[in-house]
Amino acid sequence: MTHQHPELSLSVSLPTVQSTIGPAGFDQRHLTSHSSTLAFDPGFSSTASCCSGITYIDGEKGILLHRGYPIEELALKADFTELTYLLLSGHLPTRLEYVSFCHEMAELRILNEQIRNFFNGFRRDTHPMAILCGTVAALSTFYTDELDTNNRDHREFAARQLVAKVPTIAAWAYKYTIGEPFIYPEEELSFSENILHMLFARPGRRYNVNPVLARAIDRILMLHADHEQNASTTAVRLVGSTGANPFACVSAGIAALWGPAHGGANEAALDMFHQIGSKENIPAFLTKVKDKTSGIRLMGFGHRIYRNVDPRSKLLRTSFHEVIETLGLERDPLLDLAMELERIATEDEYFIKRKLYPNVDFYSGLILKALGIPTSMFTALFAIARTTGWVSQWLEMTSNPNNRIMRPRQIYTGEEARPVPSMDER
Ligand code: CMC
Repeated sequence: MTHQHPELSLSVSLPTVQSTIGPAGFDQRHLTSHSSTLAFDPGFSSTASCCSGITYIDGEKGILLHRGYPIEELALKADFTELTYLLLSGHLPTRLEYVSFCHEMAELRILNEQIRNFFNGFRRDTHPMAILCGTVAALSTFYTDELDTNNRDHREFAARQLVAKVPTIAAWAYKYTIGEPFIYPEEELSFSENILHMLFARPGRRYNVNPVLARAIDRILMLHADHEQNASTTAVRLVGSTGANPFACVSAGIAALWGPAHGGANEAALDMFHQIGSKENIPAFLTKVKDKTSGIRLMGFGHRIYRNVDPRSKLLRTSFHEVIETLGLERDPLLDLAMELERIATEDEYFIKRKLYPNVDFYSGLILKALGIPTSMFTALFAIARTTGWVSQWLEMTSNPNNRIMRPRQIYTGEEARPVPSMDER
């Protein structure tokens, strides 16, 4: 509950924190000691929790840069492994660096054989995100000799381990829930090809990775790799600020990503298309969405930062049309319904006025569905991609000697101090 009070006029001179592009900040770390007031911003809409040189977003103009490079150019000229290298190290790999990085990552994909045993503790109908969350945290018990968070080599090695191993855990989580044998990673396959291999191969049945599908997965991974201080990245940084090990930090990120307002939106969007059922039902559904008492939102629409078209969704929209054309799925009724929903909503006054556009999850869900990826794996694929961003942000934070534990304050609105009544007096 917020207690609204008359406006408070403050006259405090605060230093600024400069940016290279985008808004500068007020350094309000000493606001409370100077003014005995707190800055109140529960959704962090006006609060910068850190300085970061990894990703820049201009939501008004629809710009997304990683280490200064526009996402549109990266998507055309690089692959997910190059982007991972860029986010982790700060520069794009040379050919030699790329080959050696691919080789190391391929070697790290394998899990300690004992990790197989964890899976048996989960019910067969467990959501892959729950398995991912628990198993990633448990990885820390296997790499205890290289877990000194004060040691830069250890930190960087843990970061690479996470990027390489999360896809194996995610694919095995899926195999476990459908009762099929786990498929081991193949060293000669690329990052994206290997994901498809681990999801769809079966012992005794050869699985040939379709390059069109692998390219589409690679693009989805690239467009989900990092997005500055979103909820899951903030969770990773917050847990990391306590000195917790990187496996625990990434597990916290996975938990945050799972929510339907964040990474769970691609799965929720697909559920919503099923719920709507047919094109004729779209207007009635949108009437419910616009009714604030219904609690229903149009999943895959809107974004906290983008008040213009999300550049990632523009790229994914193109990929979506390429994929359905290649696979001959133009007549799929669900995909057709989604396109009609997109058309009607983007022309509707309610969405135009609030600057609500289709976001990345609207199209990623549709592409994954067209590729035959099971709905329960949608958010897990997002987690595979975002692990790259999480560990890059964690590395940036832990290499900063001035890193402090993140500990927000609160405006207390409870009871004033009062005596404890005895049992008879209550
Ligand atoms: N459907 C209907 N109305 C919406 C929606 C939506 N999807 N999103 C925002 N609004 C309305 C909201 O009710 C409010 O209306 P009013 O001004 O009349 O009160 C206005 O638009 C502003 O919304 P907000 O709640 O201030 O927006 P937010 O920045 O707090 O929320 C969001 C951002 C992404 C959580 C929200 O747009 C949403 O719930 N979208 C659906 C879920 C979704 O697709 N999430 C994926 C986000 S992109 C990937 C990621 O970051 O993980």
